[in-house]
Amino acid sequence: MNFHNYHNTYLFLVFFSTLFLLPFSSFSQVNGTVQVGSFMTATEDTTPWLSPSSDFAFGFSQLKDKNLFLLAIWYNKIPDKTIIWYANDGQPVSQRSRLELSAQGGLNLYDPQGRSIWSSVGITEEVAYSFMNDTGNFVLIRTGSSTAVWESFKNPTDTIVSTQIIESDGVLFSKQSENNFSKGHFQLRLLRDGNLVLNIRDIVTNYAYDAYYISGTYDPSNSSNSGFQVIYDSTGYMFIRRRNGQRSDLTPNSLIMPPDSYYRATLGFDGVFTQYHHPKSFTGNPNWTPIWSKPDNICLNINGVKGIGACGYNNVCTLGDNKRPVCECPIGFSLIDPNNTYGSCKPSFTSSCRDEELEVDSLKDVYDFQELLDTDWPTSDYRQLNPSSEQLCRESCLQDCFCAVAIFRVDTCWMKKLPLSNGRKDQNLNGKALIKYRKGSLPPLAPPSTMITNQIQKQGQWTIILVGSVLLGTSFFIIFCLGFFIVYKKKKYIQTTTAETIAGGNQRCFQYRELLEATDGFKEEIGRGAFGTVYKGVMQNTLTRTTIAVKKLDSIVIQDKEKEFRTEVNTISQTYHKNLVRLLGFCDEGQHRMLVYEFMSKGSLASLLFGNEKLSWSLRTEMAIGVARGLVYLHDECITQIIHCDIKPQNILLDENYNARISDFGLAKLLVINQSKTNTGIRGTKGYVAPEWFRNVPISAKVDVYSFGVLLCELITCRRSLEDVMEDKPILTEWVYDCYIERKLESLVRNDEAALVDNKTLKSFVMVAIWCIQEDSSIRPSMRKVSQMLEGIVQVPIPPCPYWSTN
Ligand SMILES: *[C@@H]1O[C@H](CO)[C@@H](O)[C@H](O)[C@H]1NC(C)=O
Ligand SMILES: *[C@@H]1O[C@H](CO)[C@@H](O)[C@H](O)[C@H]1NC(C)=O
Repeated sequence: MNFHNYHNTYLFLVFFSTLFLLPFSSFSQVNGTVQVGSFMTATEDTTPWLSPSSDFAFGFSQLKDKNLFLLAIWYNKIPDKTIIWYANDGQPVSQRSRLELSAQGGLNLYDPQGRSIWSSVGITEEVAYSFMNDTGNFVLIRTGSSTAVWESFKNPTDTIVSTQIIESDGVLFSKQSENNFSKGHFQLRLLRDGNLVLNIRDIVTNYAYDAYYISGTYDPSNSSNSGFQVIYDSTGYMFIRRRNGQRSDLTPNSLIMPPDSYYRATLGFDGVFTQYHHPKSFTGNPNWTPIWSKPDNICLNINGVKGIGACGYNNVCTLGDNKRPVCECPIGFSLIDPNNTYGSCKPSFTSSCRDEELEVDSLKDVYDFQELLDTDWPTSDYRQLNPSSEQLCRESCLQDCFCAVAIFRVDTCWMKKLPLSNGRKDQNLNGKALIKYRKGSLPPLAPPSTMITNQIQKQGQWTIILVGSVLLGTSFFIIFCLGFFIVYKKKKYIQTTTAETIAGGNQRCFQYRELLEATDGFKEEIGRGAFGTVYKGVMQNTLTRTTIAVKKLDSIVIQDKEKEFRTEVNTISQTYHKNLVRLLGFCDEGQHRMLVYEFMSKGSLASLLFGNEKLSWSLRTEMAIGVARGLVYLHDECITQIIHCDIKPQNILLDENYNARISDFGLAKLLVINQSKTNTGIRGTKGYVAPEWFRNVPISAKVDVYSFGVLLCELITCRRSLEDVMEDKPILTEWVYDCYIERKLESLVRNDEAALVDNKTLKSFVMVAIWCIQEDSSIRPSMRKVSQMLEGIVQVPIPPCPYWSTN
């Protein structure tokens, strides 16, 4: 009858005795001081040892993997947990590992079985107590004096904070990655000769490769003039103190430091050494703000013949925000570790050298080149042709089975071998990289499907890269692609690859629930188009946080729903080009049909082009070239030709670097007005559609050329094709043609200084636009020709009058 009470008492006793027998930490910390004999156990709620002001904490920091803990020091008062020091070379320990402070050994870390893992080494003297200083320094104090036996400041990891000093021979190591604290590829060292250097190291042997930053504080003629300490003073300035007392600034003296801030400098896992500040008192959740960093351009500054570059082998580095590198495998390559975009890329095919004896013409059937502008791998040359034309460059690389990539610049061709290292993309590089790939082996959308699928199944992890080994289901595409306007190429090599790859899944298939969660119940609408509404979402897992755009398809009428939807998704997922928005996956569950794309942070061209702030002329010309390239790819370079049918500024999205990326392609078939094979239904948007839609003639890729012409007029003039009728302005395309005929191009770009100065480009762009808007589709050039004319590779001939002759 009294069982209930008895039960409660029992529970209480058990609880109490457990508490008594197994305390998680001893209560012996007062005001930053920790007595010898104190200990703490790694559990979720262990209290760390705090500094007097509680600015810093020393203890077990729980990692993303909740069973792992890192013995570390971190800023205790800011929400964004920032670790400034870690023990045990960054190796985490498991739950219930134990830290003890003893008089003889100092700090000792034991695993749950009681085996010693790590200790604060080199202590011969007795420790009286330890102290978590408000500076962020954890010190062990000697018995009988108040001097330090050991301090965390003298054993730095990847970070130093204000008041910390790096002595001669001092080293910081980068982490392996954002969430892996093991020693990575990069080092910051104060050399004995007085120079502060950043270099890449060999992970196994610690061999230091060429430095990519050198402070220049070594004076061979006068050693007293050489540096010997890096000082990070309490006001946030960092400088090198020379032996003669002079200082050599690292933080520019002209910078005004915000007061009352935390200051730290961290060697990032990506190799950039950055100084940050964070206000001490704040509301909300402010971030660390970068103040200063080295090197200036990590993509260009790492140049050693040996060693991995800023990005891994075969990878390409672009300088992103805050001088941080952004890495992207070039077309034809995919990441070896899909979770590490900074790692190396593997080629999607390896040249066997068997094709060598083939004629150039037949080699052209097997291989093609992807062009990447302003891209180079400067240290991977094995052959140089000079003088060379681009054609000679292409043909030589085609015929040479060792040639993975050729760089063509002005009149020189450099042929490159694998692995390519120190890849970079930079506006000032000029020239272009020609990347050889085996036709039909594209797109190498990230890693092979088997790996990713396993991962998703095993860990439920989201990878930002589209799942897929690519070529599955290609047979469908060969038979039909885009509804009524199919063009298919029937070539030997496609059939072979198809047979090989029809197995296994090829896109990431999302659950409806997942997308519902990611979009927070489809809360934030970011666009609306012919196919439905687009919502912003965030996919999060332990490793990555990816912003996505989810397109809910609502107006689809499909007869053979399942198959057709997936076929289309397959077609789209095989596209891989920097001027196309990439499809990450889809959802096909009950009545829910959605496409998941990478999120384009700068929105659509429509909102920027016609907004208040004018896009610069150079950005506009780049965008025109980008869109043209994307269309060349869709028309000529995919396995199945894709006609977009709805090119307009609303369908051109901009990524964070303002690269123009075409969206909404490959969907034509899904929006079937009726399933007949005649072209009764006009696809497209008023103001952009080609005249042949209104005539009884076949539709070809030339419809996109027309729409592109209209878009080009808009890019030149920043005016909408369809102005408000009330405004009484002439039709844009007619106005452009009139200005051209009357030689009044300047009125097209009123107040646009840059465009006026660049009148050569202006004129050629206008001429290209007029070629594109020819009413007679047979006169319009192909997108390839258009792209070449825009890039100045071929001359633009005088365009004819765009209208049908009225005879
Ligand atoms: C804490 O650090 C400051 C600045 O380095 C130093 O002056 C002070 O003595 C330290 N406190 C202890 C108890 O070590
Ligand atoms: C960190 O990376 C190293 C090397 O790749 C690996 O051995 C180690 O297990 C990783 N640590 C964690 C916690 O994942």
